[in-house]
Amino acid sequence: MSTHAHPRHPRGVTIPDELVRRLAGAKSMTVLTGAGVSAESGVPTFRDAQTGLWAQYRPEELATPRAFRRNPRLVWEWYAWRRKLVANAKPNPAHLALAELERLLPRFQLITQNVDGLHQRAGSQRVIELHGNIMRTRCYDEGTAVYRWEDTGDIPPKCPNCGGRLRPDVVWFEEALPETEMELATRASTTCDVFCSVGTSTVVHPAASLPFEALDSGATVVEINLQPTPFTARAHFALAGAAGLVLPELLASVRSRFRISLSELPAGQKPSQCRRS
Ligand code: OAD
Repeated sequence: MSTHAHPRHPRGVTIPDELVRRLAGAKSMTVLTGAGVSAESGVPTFRDAQTGLWAQYRPEELATPRAFRRNPRLVWEWYAWRRKLVANAKPNPAHLALAELERLLPRFQLITQNVDGLHQRAGSQRVIELHGNIMRTRCYDEGTAVYRWEDTGDIPPKCPNCGGRLRPDVVWFEEALPETEMELATRASTTCDVFCSVGTSTVVHPAASLPFEALDSGATVVEINLQPTPFTARAHFALAGAAGLVLPELLASVRSRFRISLSELPAGQKPSQCRRS
């Protein structure tokens, strides 16, 4: 069965009953998020025409080890600009709905390609960061995390331990993803009952292969996005709309489903799925 809803107008998406039924009965849910989930917080995506970062900047000049070796100042300053933007941003209803779903469902795992930390700020606790975190810094030479350094006016600043250059603790193009995080993400995707991909263009691998792996492993797969992606045609449920509108609606539908199940049970008994509501 497959439900695809990609109307021209993204507002007013109805959550299919069958999806709500499957979610309410799911023992585990895994969600993969991308830049689209933070778009409504004012954090630009990468590939959206006009507004996406890669529509305005060249990734090979800003987001590769070679770019950093060639012009470390430019790269540091670009990330410093993005860090400031992220620090001033606030979690939006999509982040908040995901944090609430984590509290509601028995086993919930969030996997994000975002480096902005907005999921954690919204209250999500089980977050796998596949592409690092822009608020962290590490030594380019030693790879170790650096929390404090002396402000000598150098840009980028110098590592207090070896004098090497500091860099943001994010994954650049041509770099491998952190091994443990990737392993955990693969396991969470291939063992869940429901997998939901939100706000990602599904083109950057290996993260982009996770929805397909979830599908091949028998999960019910859902996509929430403003635009179709290479995964849309394969998703059991493709919901077209802004994450900040669709996810709260999804949460409300699951909640009301739980309330119905509760009212149908003999007094004092709770459905096993309903952890903390
Ligand atoms: P992209 O910019 O490639 O894709 C963003 C997706 O979000 C697009 O499919 C949009 O249609 C969708 N979108 C935009 N606004 C939305 C909204 N309000 N609600 C729902 N969907 C919305 O971002 P990612 O897929 O996250 O990697 O990009 C993956 C990786 O490519 C990033 O982590 C980054 C980038 O290069 C590195 O820097 C290593």
